[in-house]
Amino acid sequence: MNADTAVGAGTAAQADVTGRLSTRVRNVPASGIRKFFDILASMDDVISLGVGEPDFVTPEHIMRAGVDSLTQGETHYTSNYGLLELREAVAEYLCDHYGVRYDPQTEILLTAGVSEAVDIALRAVIDPGDEVIVPEPAYVSYRPCITFAGGEPVGIDSSAATQFRITADQVAAAITPRTKALLLGFPANPTGAMLPREEWLQIVELARRHNLIMLSDEIYGRLAYTMEHTCVSALPGAWDRTILLGGFSKSYAMTGWRIGYVAAPGPMLEYIMKVHQYVLMCAPTMSQYAALQAVRHGEPDVVRMLDAYAQRRTLIVDGLNSMGLDCVPPDGAFYCFPSIRSTGLSSQEFAERLLQEEHVACVAGDAFGPCGDGHVRMCYAVPAADIEVALERIARFVNRLSG
Ligand SMILES: Cc1ncc(COP(=O)(O)O)c(C=O)c1O
Repeated sequence: MNADTAVGAGTAAQADVTGRLSTRVRNVPASGIRKFFDILASMDDVISLGVGEPDFVTPEHIMRAGVDSLTQGETHYTSNYGLLELREAVAEYLCDHYGVRYDPQTEILLTAGVSEAVDIALRAVIDPGDEVIVPEPAYVSYRPCITFAGGEPVGIDSSAATQFRITADQVAAAITPRTKALLLGFPANPTGAMLPREEWLQIVELARRHNLIMLSDEIYGRLAYTMEHTCVSALPGAWDRTILLGGFSKSYAMTGWRIGYVAAPGPMLEYIMKVHQYVLMCAPTMSQYAALQAVRHGEPDVVRMLDAYAQRRTLIVDGLNSMGLDCVPPDGAFYCFPSIRSTGLSSQEFAERLLQEEHVACVAGDAFGPCGDGHVRMCYAVPAADIEVALERIARFVNRLSG
């Protein structure tokens, strides 16, 4: 058999076998963001407002703590829950910032980022056919993770007209006898929306009345500009039914370390732990040491970076509005979600042509749910000088379209 025959035979066999793979997975579309990373990697001189991560490198003292742990021989598994010292520090942090209490022994689990936390929490909650309500536009992983866990995502739409804030009435209208949980992520990716406390109180009341579980992804909780962040489990009546998901990636510029946590009442955490221990064993050990340093001594870094994001937020929002791309000032996180309807292009066309013609990357809004169409997501966690150049290029692009 020559090499060509071997390859050909392999390909036919692969096609056969691929047909045997999971229908559930096949039906989930690939992320609209990934496609952009591939194009981007092949181009020079691109300003990327596409990727959702801080431009800052992890602060030196945090990095050092991770490296030191390695040189000191901390290269082994930790407890499935993670280092007790870090769980204690996270418990203290949550209590100091939000007044919410968790027992570090039994109510906090360290994970490989909030990505893992979302996945394992959903798998611990969902039975086949359960519905999970998701305010949209939403983080790209939410729908797929619900589907992978055997559930059915039920989106509720928000729009620029209401600053992308959903209401308790919308949640109430989406509840059916099959609703198991709400997956809430505020401040929101991709809109930056946050909800006022009064709205939260009504949502908690609905969850209580219908015996629903609330999964609250608070990864952007420290990046808030227009109002104080509401920690959902700290709301009256919420603690018993809330799974709090938190992380280090965004506020401490630690995306590559893959470290986050779940905080939940003991009996619920046990379910989540069961999934975690069989799929991951424990969060990366060096990252746990780095996170320990971050949570104990990283507050000045959080404040410094938040300050920079706040300035960049004003720069980009003003710039976009002044060129006729209507942009709601985001309440939190580091994304803005301007409307591109005035250009007459679809979100996909806008994003693709802006990249090809002006070398500025952003993400088409429909990647975050159907109601995101007509918008694009731009991440402003990039240096202000790059935002300025990007704005010049976007203005040139928009002018060309209208001219
Ligand atoms: C809303 C939201 N949740 C979770 C994640 C994943 O974060 P991590 O790096 O902690 O896995 C992201 C990353 O973009 C996000 O935007």
